[in-house]
Amino acid sequence: MKSAEIPTPQPDTAFNAPGKRNAVRAMFAEIAPSYDRLNHLLSVNIDKVWRRFTVKKLKDVLDRPGAIALDLCCGTADLTLELAPHARVIGCDFCHPMLVIGNEKIAAREARQATLAEGDALHLPFADQSFDVVTVAFGLRNLENVEAGLAEIFRVLKPGGRAAVLEFSRPIVPVFRQAFEFYFHNILPRIGALLSGSKGAYTYLPKSVSNFPPQKRLAEMMRSVGFADVRYHNLSGGIAALHLGERALPPASAKN
Ligand SMILES: C[S@@+](CC[C@H](N)C(=O)[O-])C[C@H]1O[C@@H](n2cnc3c(N)ncnc32)[C@H](O)[C@@H]1O
Repeated sequence: MKSAEIPTPQPDTAFNAPGKRNAVRAMFAEIAPSYDRLNHLLSVNIDKVWRRFTVKKLKDVLDRPGAIALDLCCGTADLTLELAPHARVIGCDFCHPMLVIGNEKIAAREARQATLAEGDALHLPFADQSFDVVTVAFGLRNLENVEAGLAEIFRVLKPGGRAAVLEFSRPIVPVFRQAFEFYFHNILPRIGALLSGSKGAYTYLPKSVSNFPPQKRLAEMMRSVGFADVRYHNLSGGIAALHLGERALPPASAKN
């Protein structure tokens, strides 16, 4: 049987759907060759502006001497590459074909501060308190357990470090929200299917975004795993949101 006759199963679009891990990985493997082109086309390049804004909000931490960053669910390394001019950065993803493309981009740009590692965001192969900055862009929504993913980010972050979660969210102005949702649910899946050859991936995207917690709820989830000073920025009217949280330094030990 030719592989084209075996359809890639679409991952469950429900929030925290147990067992969706393998289907998520297979879906990204299927769309890896067209991922970058479609990302930039379907967002009219606004995704690049959002990643740059993310790095701007991390710059003070990245500029610390010897700082090291982890870019989780790094895919084809777009955010990894935005971080690399400022600090050493490890991009981590569990989808090999996405990492292959990411590695080609890192080599082409001679981004010597960037390296990629294969790993699962829910079981990171890194010691506690290893990174000054941890980012995840458009990845958190895909995890089987979002709270466990946030707890894993908190675990590998150094005290005094900062986490940044860039994710699709809810447009805040009603008429704009309706217009965007029409595009997101009706037009984007058709263009995505046509250009990527994957029927499921661009249907999964809007459905999984609808089932993902809105801005305030995600901020509460970050606080519940231990993040301090959690705040968020709505991007492009709330189409996406950037959540930031700190891992507080331990209180100074009392002096006698
Ligand atoms: C929508 S892409 C985002 C890629 C990149 N961060 C960007 O900004 O374009 C989501 C990525 O998350 C990865 N991913 C999903 N679940 C994961 C997990 N449990 N562990 C590691 N990577 C995961 C997928 O393989 C995919 O590359």
